[in-house]
Amino acid sequence: MRVLITGGAGFIGSQTLLQLLGEQHEICVLDNYSNSSPMVFERVAMLSNSAFELVEGDVRDRDTLAKIFEGFRPEAVIHFAGLKAVGESTTFPIRYYENNMLGTATLLQAMDAVQCRQIVFSSSATVYGVPKYLPYDEAHPCIPTSPYGRTKYFIEEMIRDWSAATPTASAVILRYFNPVGAHSSGIIGEDPNDIPNNLMPYISQVAVGKLSKLQVFGNDYDTRDGTGLRDYIHVVDLARAHLNSIDYVAGSAGVETFNIGTGEGATVLEVIQAFEAASGQTIPYEINQRRPGDIAAFYANPAKAHNLLDWRAKFNLANMCRDAWNWQSKNPDGYVQGPK
Ligand code: NAD
Ligand code: UFG
Repeated sequence: MRVLITGGAGFIGSQTLLQLLGEQHEICVLDNYSNSSPMVFERVAMLSNSAFELVEGDVRDRDTLAKIFEGFRPEAVIHFAGLKAVGESTTFPIRYYENNMLGTATLLQAMDAVQCRQIVFSSSATVYGVPKYLPYDEAHPCIPTSPYGRTKYFIEEMIRDWSAATPTASAVILRYFNPVGAHSSGIIGEDPNDIPNNLMPYISQVAVGKLSKLQVFGNDYDTRDGTGLRDYIHVVDLARAHLNSIDYVAGSAGVETFNIGTGEGATVLEVIQAFEAASGQTIPYEINQRRPGDIAAFYANPAKAHNLLDWRAKFNLANMCRDAWNWQSKNPDGYVQGPK
């Protein structure tokens, strides 16, 4: 299938690009590199031994999109492009609304102009907000607690309205839990711009000596050991969910929403232990205050993805830590030099 990947230079997009190339899909990537580097593509090309089209541009730019839709004529779109930092979204909310929502509206209009009706959208478990019950299933109420989370929820609604008005439309909304890890080769992985906000890249940078110690945000939560509990999902498993979703949208109409997680939770202290075991490094840490806005615990009920997408996670926390460490130790500064 001819697939447009927006945000395909990013952490999850690049892993998905690699897997789609492995299945002989024809790919065009659109990215403005606001949170990524085009250097990732050399590495994807090396791993896949395949060619693909690249367009540097913004998903909010109608002219760029029109050229892609008239030239490459995608049959389906996987829409990753967006801003994703929860904390930053509280400081610059309009930047998030503009980038994420206007970007998606512009994209859906460009798709309509050429009757491209199939989309897979990157949503997030953050749309659920404070758990009313766990595990979250897809019917759990959505009351997101940050501007970022609200952009994801409003985009979901936008896609539902678009689909209702467009009988041939087919959309899959994937609510990712906590994506971590890297390709097993250590050649592509997560390369945050600044000091990482998220746990696993922070631990990786402590392990490799770039940061001195981890701050554990709170140990007085109602969890097994008092630290926050999340459903970590290997990014390679997550990327594979997009392959199944592309097949799914090709054979269906309407909108389906899926949780993409393992169904298992791990606490911060358990992640530290697993990372130490995988890397052979000690991770110094200290207990600090709770991070404002954090939820004690959440994890997925992934049964719907098992049943309808025939998808389930294959990798466990030890695998995630092994691959994150392999990537980080081979690329301590990310995509600054050729692959080792
Ligand atoms: P990422 O920042 O690594 O990738 C996003 C890519 O989109 C980047 O390459 C960035 O340069 C590009 N981009 C951003 N705005 C753009 C625009 N206007 N036009 C063109 N390109 C643009 O993030 P990621 O972790 O790969 O996340 C991908 C998607 O999944 C995002 O939509 C994110 O919100 C969502 N998501 C991520 C997580 C996570 O923890 N990583 C969790 C849930 C959902
Ligand atoms: N944590 C620390 N120290 C750190 C970073 C995190 O103790 O330096 C803790 C947090 O308090 C939390 C757990 O580690 O208990 C996980 O935190 P992350 O920041 O890695 O992940 P979040 O669950 O807070 O959020 C992430 C993304 C969101 C996304 C959500 C669900 O940042 O965008 O996963 O997909 F919505």
